[in-house]
Amino acid sequence: MKTFDLTKQYKMFEKDIIRSVSKVLSSGSYILGENVKIFEESVGKYLGTRYTVSCNSGTDALVMSLRALNIGNNDQVITTPFTYFATSEAISLVGAKPIFADINPHTFNINPKKLEKLISKKTRAILSVNLFGQACELDNISRIAKKYNLSHIEDCAQSFGSTYKTKQTGSYGDIGCFSFFPTKNLGCFGDGGLITVKNKKIYESLLKLRTHGGIKRNQHDMIGYNSRLDEIQAAILNIKLKHINKFIDKRIDVAESYYRLIKNDKIRLPFRDINGKHTFNQFTIRVENRKKLEKHLKKHMIPYGIYYPKPIYKYKAYANFKCDDLPMVEKVSNQCLSLPIYPELELKDIETISSVLNNYE
Ligand SMILES: Cc1ncc(COP(=O)(O)O)c(C=O)c1O
Repeated sequence: MKTFDLTKQYKMFEKDIIRSVSKVLSSGSYILGENVKIFEESVGKYLGTRYTVSCNSGTDALVMSLRALNIGNNDQVITTPFTYFATSEAISLVGAKPIFADINPHTFNINPKKLEKLISKKTRAILSVNLFGQACELDNISRIAKKYNLSHIEDCAQSFGSTYKTKQTGSYGDIGCFSFFPTKNLGCFGDGGLITVKNKKIYESLLKLRTHGGIKRNQHDMIGYNSRLDEIQAAILNIKLKHINKFIDKRIDVAESYYRLIKNDKIRLPFRDINGKHTFNQFTIRVENRKKLEKHLKKHMIPYGIYYPKPIYKYKAYANFKCDDLPMVEKVSNQCLSLPIYPELELKDIETISSVLNNYE
């Protein structure tokens, strides 16, 4: 048993993938070609967003979004410290300062009630993360951003296909940033990312930023990046996008089985906000004594992951960074543990994992 098994999904679509990839290889068009165009259009329709810009990774999507909003030195961006490192790394990479807000311990997402007191003259944006496949309180966050004339960027790396109220994640904020890292809800076979955007001017800046600051040959209006989605990854994503609802339903089925089978007062199952569709990029439980549970799982050879073992401000990279400890994030990062979850995880494995958890004392 593995925490993720990506080979199963590949086997399911092997013939289609080999056919598409080989078509790309013999076409001679490898970068920003027809497959990328088709993907950007179809993903935009799926997410219900006006403009889409594919790029090389979720990290690049975040960095370029901040740049397109002209966020840089001396600016501050409010975000969550309970996320993958790339979220705040992107803020630091553009020269801005991440300001960390505490989380809601039930949803693991940034707590909108903690935002307003962190807003200063230097604040330019709120960067919220729809963690583990569950949307933040996106309407409240967008409302606060509008009230203070801030941009709202959604980090949707883990929430492709998740919804909040009536809309997809990535369509609430001014900008949505997605990752197609292989373990994500929609994963390619390498690195890939996407930006969704509402404003035409920002869209045009993003198109330039991803290709060295200009769209035409020998045009460089700004210092940009080399951050293009390649045709091979786009061809694979075009195949997988057609099946995304099925993959997500299967993730939810796996989660439903865990909810049905795990019966142990010592284990707190993930809270689901009734306002949204949680797509379970992770199934993250909480337990008082995580070390003890880890020992128990290891003994029974159950794989697991710790997402995330500490708040971002406790990593060495932020050693000189002054930030008060945030009580909820401190607590949750000591208690969280993620169980295996992927669309092809079999019921017999879910039963084994659940019964080992039920025997935990
Ligand atoms: C919340 C979050 N943000 C950003 C990223 C970065 O995405 P990528 O790995 O595609 O650069 C990830 C990837 O794991 C993520 O989980």
